Amino acid sequence: MSEVSSPVHVALPTDKELVLKVIPMPADCNANGDIFGGWVMAQVDLAGSVLPARHTQGRMATVAVNEFVFKQPVRVGDILSFYSSVTRIGRTSITVKVEVYAERFRSQGRYIKVTEANVTYVAIDEQGRPRPIPQD
Ligand SMILES: CC(C)(COP(=O)(O)OP(=O)(O)OC[C@H]1O[C@@H](n2cnc3c(N)ncnc32)[C@H](O)[C@@H]1OP(=O)(O)O)[C@@H](O)C(=O)NCCC(=O)NCCS
Repeated sequence: MSEVSSPVHVALPTDKELVLKVIPMPADCNANGDIFGGWVMAQVDLAGSVLPARHTQGRMATVAVNEFVFKQPVRVGDILSFYSSVTRIGRTSITVKVEVYAERFRSQGRYIKVTEANVTYVAIDEQGRPRPIPQD
């Protein structure tokens, strides 16, 4: 297994919207003491739903996530920022790209990219079937 590469500080995206900020707590850790990947994935799912909700105006479900690669660990006390933009609006589905940046505890204002994913949500009706996205 390769070593974790040295963190590179990056600029925040200017073409995406900040949709969530959250600070992981000890209850979110795995056995190594780092933050559990599944917890980060759940936050991405929540953050990713913010922009599609403006379009679907009602129930929706996550249908697909492509793909998660975790290049840097997330630690207790990091401030995580989730940036998102809509990349595709289909008939019943919307895809967003979500990028996650961490400010290390005691190193605020410097950002490390943690992961990114493309997430697709489907507008659904009361029976859970796909429904067309309202055209405003
Ligand atoms: C989401 C759900 C309602 C879609 O129903 P479906 O019959 O599979 O839907 P369809 O095949 O008609 O596809 C609906 C839309 O999803 C898109 N889609 C389906 N599979 C996809 C995939 N793997 N990747 C990206 N988009 C996908 C289709 O392209 C279509 O979008 P469009 O109308 O904009 O072109 C159904 O699959 C479902 O209920 N899944 C469970 C959702 C859920 O519980 N999520 C949380 C998991 S814990």
